[in-house]
Amino acid sequence: MKKIIIFASGAGSNAQAIIDFFRGSKEVTIALILSNKKEAGVLNIAQAEEIDSMLIDKKIIENDNFLKILNDYQTDLIVLAGYLWKIPDYLIRAYKNRIINIHPSLLPKYGGKGMYGSHVHKAVIENNEKESGITIHYVNEEYDQGEILLQEKVEVTLVDTAESLAKKIHTLEHALFAQVIEKII
Ligand code: GRF
Repeated sequence: MKKIIIFASGAGSNAQAIIDFFRGSKEVTIALILSNKKEAGVLNIAQAEEIDSMLIDKKIIENDNFLKILNDYQTDLIVLAGYLWKIPDYLIRAYKNRIINIHPSLLPKYGGKGMYGSHVHKAVIENNEKESGITIHYVNEEYDQGEILLQEKVEVTLVDTAESLAKKIHTLEHALFAQVIEKII
């Protein structure tokens, strides 16, 4: 059984889609959901789905003792699904090519520090882009710059707002993230 750990800071709709995709799988399981935010919806999802969860702070994640927890869970892949803190270098080194992220734009456009969630969609709308999309990529030492696994585009129309664009992007994310995970794991 391959084991995934999901890191998330927000509502967790991507985490939910991943859980649903692998429900009943004999090959892949979600072993742990980890969040840096006490009030993150993703922790409620973990509870409802009876998946182990963990609330972390900077002290925990930035100390390489944290690797012991990942080892205890026999982690094969770390999936960042709306996780907002930078992954410390020791963790990137220890899990080289075993950490992936989803970003709600066509990287390298609208990536980097501070470019997350609605900030991305607002910037896309303000710049009158005709298209946006999602990028699923490996995580390396630089924000949003690891090798790209998949990109998929959506059209941005004249009537789109940051909110309507966010919806379109979420639909794409929910349809594709787990498929990519299945492929690489
Ligand atoms: C997603 O749009 C993802 O691309 C971004 O953060 C959002 C997380 O949404 N990195 P959710 O918490 O999975 O609903």
